[in-house]
Amino acid sequence: MPSLKTNAPSFVKNAKLIAWVADMAALTQPDRIYWCDGSDDEYARLCQQLVDAGTFKKLNPAKRPNSFLACSDPSDVARVEDRTYICCEKKENAGPTNNWMAPVDMRTTLQPLFDGCMKGRTMYVVPFSMGPLGSHISHIGIELTDSAYVVVNQKIMTRMGKAVYDVLGTDGAFVPCIHTVGAPLAAGQADVKWPCNSTKYIVHYPETREIWSYGSGYGGNALLGKKCFALRIASNMGRDQGWLAEHMLILGVTNPQGKKYHVAAAFPSACGKTNFSMLVPPAGFEGWKVTTIGDDIAWIKPHADGKMYAINPEAGYFGVAPGTNFHTNPNCMASLDKNVIFTNVALTDDGDVWWEGMEQDGGGFPAHLIDWQGKDWTPELAKANGVKAAHPNSRFTVAAGNNPALDPEWDNPAGVAIDAFIFGGRRSTTVPLVTESRNWMEGVYMAATMGSETTAAAVGQMGVVRRDPFAMLPFCGYNMSDYFQHWLDMEHKLEEQGHTLPKIFCVNWFRKNDAGKFVWPGYGDNMRVLKWMIDRLEGAAQGVETMFGVAPLFDELTWTGLPFSAEQFNTVTSIDKAAWAEELKLHTAHFEQLSYHLPQALIETKAVLEQRLNA
Ligand code: GTP
Ligand code: SPV
Ligand code: MN
Repeated sequence: MPSLKTNAPSFVKNAKLIAWVADMAALTQPDRIYWCDGSDDEYARLCQQLVDAGTFKKLNPAKRPNSFLACSDPSDVARVEDRTYICCEKKENAGPTNNWMAPVDMRTTLQPLFDGCMKGRTMYVVPFSMGPLGSHISHIGIELTDSAYVVVNQKIMTRMGKAVYDVLGTDGAFVPCIHTVGAPLAAGQADVKWPCNSTKYIVHYPETREIWSYGSGYGGNALLGKKCFALRIASNMGRDQGWLAEHMLILGVTNPQGKKYHVAAAFPSACGKTNFSMLVPPAGFEGWKVTTIGDDIAWIKPHADGKMYAINPEAGYFGVAPGTNFHTNPNCMASLDKNVIFTNVALTDDGDVWWEGMEQDGGGFPAHLIDWQGKDWTPELAKANGVKAAHPNSRFTVAAGNNPALDPEWDNPAGVAIDAFIFGGRRSTTVPLVTESRNWMEGVYMAATMGSETTAAAVGQMGVVRRDPFAMLPFCGYNMSDYFQHWLDMEHKLEEQGHTLPKIFCVNWFRKNDAGKFVWPGYGDNMRVLKWMIDRLEGAAQGVETMFGVAPLFDELTWTGLPFSAEQFNTVTSIDKAAWAEELKLHTAHFEQLSYHLPQALIETKAVLEQRLNA
């Protein structure tokens, strides 16, 4: 079979890249190769092409200028964790929380799947930088994909385009990322709106820093810069090079005196990162300001000045739509007014979008919609059969530049100095609203043992509590216990430089009462907790010791504008001894699963907790 000429444009001068593209083209056999330049013109052309193909519906320009709706195949709506693999040479280096296959076996498995997988399609060459272009912190990836939907999403989510080739030069390094929807077209075969394959593989080779993704066009399965690169591969880079790749938002918070703090917070998927990163302080917090640096991923490096600096490697937000409205997240709603790609939300009769939660914006439920699966939807039908207009994991893709609360430093290659880390799961019971760890070790323990109820962000059962250490369970690209050790090692690294480490807090916005309703108002009211954290940083709040860290006294939170009684406060902060005895059993089981290389210090910390509980 004669191999397809790569036809690399003159601005591509990296021989390794050209050779790799040629190899991948020979393997996947696309009809065409298209080298993306990342221009607005190219974006517009590809969007039009997606409209013509039926993948995109152009929204009413009077309502949502330059915005589109894509509805996926109902079988391809979220990350597939059971199809995600870390293929390092030794199984124990992937650890018990990752699927593993030996690289040689995985390559043998993937070979026939990739063989001819792009027939009848275009292979797009997508150059992107994770992090500001040319920054010493940034890394380059090249994604080869047969999905134009992926290309336009990558244009928003990353710094994508021609300038990446200049940084790459003749011999710069890049992470090769190959993606296919796994749906070759025979000659004359008509395409479908959302091609994909029921067989899916999301594969990482950490040692050779490669990503191979087969069969899905959705989110983290397909936008390979995000979870695959910026977390699973980057966590390996971070371990080798002494930095951290985390599933964290980064925000700036400025007090009325103009003093600014930076916080990085890890919550599991669909547990409130985008919301918290765009928080609008409620009435009573005049003069306070929260600004967004990132909403999903942080790369954090210890610096010679003894501080930890964080950058957001992404350039856009791929955020959860349902639940987002003008009350819960006004900055996000403002971000979505133009230039947005929506996926799996509902379509209104006047060509706009709708999702569950929008009814709280004053308009109630629309009388009629086309749901994400293309079916008629009415409030009556929804009531009768519980069907959702928007898929629970429906999302928007939007550039950071759309966010009115964007932090001026968001693009600073040096990053921002982190003052505090927050870890938080989605727990109906047991875990209190907020506690502060007494030291780094205890903070790492809290993060390492964090539990959370599963959400629609991943395929599988919803609402079951599982351990999600550091909100990294699906994203840590190596053995979890080694990752804990890496976090513990940071303490000594920074202390050697005479630095005070960031404080570590544990939060839970999701406690429910006996009626199954959230007790804590959440969203903007989370500012009350954030302010207490800052008071702790400043030594302005005393707190009270509990078995699980230092908690706020009722009077230490600012309650202006919120009727919240001491009893209500008690329902979100109380520590139930029996529930915690059960919780610690889950920690024990978790540690048993992670026993290989588990830091002894974590076991000792657990013993101290048990003593406190029994005291
Ligand atoms: P990923 O993009 O999947 O990593 O998710 P994320 O952590 O950015 O989650 P996001 O902020 O998009 O929130 C997911 C869901 O949680 C949305 O439906 C929100 O409305 C809801 N949510 C966010 N913050 C809060 C809160 O403080 N309280 C309650 N009850 N719900 C919240
Ligand atoms: C998550 O699931 O944590 C996300 C969405 O941020 S995805 O990009 O699909 O991973
Ligand atoms: Mn995420």
